[in-house]
Amino acid sequence: MAIPSFNVCHNLELLKEQGKSLDPKRQEGEREEEGLSYEFQEMLESLPKERGWRTRHLYLFQGFWCQSKEIQAIMSFQKHFKPLQNDVVIATIPKSGTTWLKALTYTLLNRHRFDPVSSNTDHPLLTSNPHDLVPFFEYKLYANGDVPDLFGLASPRTFATHVPFGSLKDSIEKPGVKVVYLCRNPFDTFISSWHYTNSIKSESVSPVSLDEGFDMYCRGLIGFGPFWEHMLAYWKESLKRPDKVLFLRYEDLKQDIESNLKKLASFLAVPFTEEEERKGIVKAIVELCSFESLKKLEVNKAGQSIKNFENRHLFRKGEVSDWINYLSPPQAERLSALVDDKLGGTGLTFRYC
Ligand code: A3P
Repeated sequence: MAIPSFNVCHNLELLKEQGKSLDPKRQEGEREEEGLSYEFQEMLESLPKERGWRTRHLYLFQGFWCQSKEIQAIMSFQKHFKPLQNDVVIATIPKSGTTWLKALTYTLLNRHRFDPVSSNTDHPLLTSNPHDLVPFFEYKLYANGDVPDLFGLASPRTFATHVPFGSLKDSIEKPGVKVVYLCRNPFDTFISSWHYTNSIKSESVSPVSLDEGFDMYCRGLIGFGPFWEHMLAYWKESLKRPDKVLFLRYEDLKQDIESNLKKLASFLAVPFTEEEERKGIVKAIVELCSFESLKKLEVNKAGQSIKNFENRHLFRKGEVSDWINYLSPPQAERLSALVDDKLGGTGLTFRYC
């Protein structure tokens, strides 16, 4: 697909030319398209679209479903981002535990600069949300027409994305660049997405009911989905190139965070020394990044790290198997059958409770 240029031009003049209303009560869909260039809007119009969860539409872009503003940011990222050796990219489909993995990775990689032991009140994680410390390409760095200069960032530069592997791969093809993928069972991921979307959506968008959202999810209609394609592409790449892509599971982290943190440290070539283990550094990182610790911090109770997304909604329950409280038996059967159909025989399996 040809990538059109998209100077972020649009302003009142263009809206006027297009005859769009400047009334503050205008539709959410119109606000959604504000700041998008005319060329970009034309390109959007050529894409298949469906009803969105918290915006009017999701568009099928490069084979995955995505909101308009994120598509613009992803195109900019694909065009401008230059990987450097030692870059670390955290990849997830939304609501898989991204915030947790960002906290862990940041604390791990910076443990010599910022001592993670709890008496250290200067630790950045105590005053910054993990999304500020490890920025998303599509929601932060390349959002709103920005093209950031990332060359001066301290190594290893650490970024995050929800972009599926097929659309990320050209941007990480440099020796030494590593990708860490965190996967969560599709049942809990759906429930977490449903809660989150309804918490952060603007008042002008009607809420998505559980049944409606579930049907959309099973049809693959979720941001960066279909979920099975997202998970499977990273899974296959982790099997093909285990030095390049580490595949972690949320449920494994919940069950045994220490050994998974050590696995992450070894993969990122910063293994813990025996002395560090003796000094309790592993436990200190686990504690600092735990759901309970992060949730109670002032910065995570108030404020927005990503525009329009309040930090407090990022910490809901943090449990495995909450889906049991929401899905009916026929819904659970439908999703089970879908997972079997799409992922059966691939070796990618899940724990649901
Ligand atoms: P629930 O909605 O099931 O509670 P993401 O960070 O990708 O947006 O994922 C959000 C999910 O991860 C939410 O799940 C949230 O509560 C959970 N979560 C956030 N921080 C966590 C942590 N430190 N440990 C475990 N789970 C965490």
